[in-house]
Amino acid sequence: MLQSNDTGETTIPANGIYPHQWNWDSALISLGWVSVDPDRAWRELRSLVGMQMADGMIPHIAFDRRPNSYLPGPDWWGDLVGMDGRRVSGITQPPVLATCLRLLWQLAPDELQARQLLAPISHWHSWLLRVRDPQSIGEPVIVHPWESGRDNAIDWDVALERLPNARTSFDRADTDFVDETQRPTKVHYDKYMYLVEWFRDHGWNQDAIGKHSPFRMLDPGFSAILTASASDLAAVATELGESAIAEESMRISENVGESLKQRASTDGLIRAVDLTTGDTISTISCGSALSCLNGHLTDTHIDAIVESVTVGVLSAPSGVLSAASNAADFSPENYWRGPVWANISWLVALGLDRRGRNDAAELLRYRQLSTYAKIGAREYNSPSGTTGLGANGFSWSSALALVEVERLAQMQAH
Ligand code: GLC
Repeated sequence: MLQSNDTGETTIPANGIYPHQWNWDSALISLGWVSVDPDRAWRELRSLVGMQMADGMIPHIAFDRRPNSYLPGPDWWGDLVGMDGRRVSGITQPPVLATCLRLLWQLAPDELQARQLLAPISHWHSWLLRVRDPQSIGEPVIVHPWESGRDNAIDWDVALERLPNARTSFDRADTDFVDETQRPTKVHYDKYMYLVEWFRDHGWNQDAIGKHSPFRMLDPGFSAILTASASDLAAVATELGESAIAEESMRISENVGESLKQRASTDGLIRAVDLTTGDTISTISCGSALSCLNGHLTDTHIDAIVESVTVGVLSAPSGVLSAASNAADFSPENYWRGPVWANISWLVALGLDRRGRNDAAELLRYRQLSTYAKIGAREYNSPSGTTGLGANGFSWSSALALVEVERLAQMQAH
């Protein structure tokens, strides 16, 4: 599967619908390459860092040079280019890269490769706080739903409703590949494209975007991933004797982790915040579950997450639900509004494992793998795990299944 989505230096998420390199996809996919070809795994991360912009941001997409129907293609993003010369988008994605770097470093250590990645990743993390936290809240703001990696999550509905539609007409290509009932609505796409136009109208000035984007939200998933990644970067930097990067990364991890912890509600869970109004979004989504990656949460917070993902409102036979089953707009077959995604179950399992909640982590991994065995490498699936949804041949679903199969094989061998 990975080989069929391999372009040489990058692995596309899926043929047809996602023909470019995506940021958090590539980071997770690199782990799948480890058991097949460790050099290829390191190359994946090198190409991901190659798309970095001069200011430090690692964008959400680097565009493949071959023409295709993907919307919004490179022309929507002006003439933005990454340091390796590829055209890129002007927004970012969940910064899971350094966590994947640390796991890769443990599974297939390569000092030269690891060393080359430290400074660029550290530069990106610093950018996230320097440019994306202009009010010194302690967490980076996301300026587009795509930055959360959870495009049409219920969390963003109210903030999107306030926005006008895009001026320019556009043709979506996604529904040529996947049934439209499993994809974001036209109403949401009009808002997504309006935001891209707004950024373009503001000359891709990231300072202005961070301060004034008409969509500005705190996402507990994004923030917790940054907390974990910064601490993972510190761990690798310490081993490699890069003390300045290690200290700066620990500082970022602690600041973001403590700020995020302060936002927990009385039920122990952390929710998204709409910074335009200051309102906390009442919906519970897998963003709340991902916050277990924040090593600064108390045991009580972790208890609440364990309950929600094993038996509670985020729990399903196939893994962690993308939205709470009791949410008014829960939609079990629509993209990020209910279905289960392998990367989320896997990341939540990683976070719980690190907090010593190994039984809960193993349960989530069992759910992930048994679903993969039934439906294969689908992009997402119905909560019961019997129906595959979205794209076929989806890279991170395969990569993360490979990681877990390999881990089980190693455990058996010992
Ligand atoms: C969709 C997903 C996002 C993913 C991308 C490529 O936009 O919402 O998380 O990175 O597809 O797979």
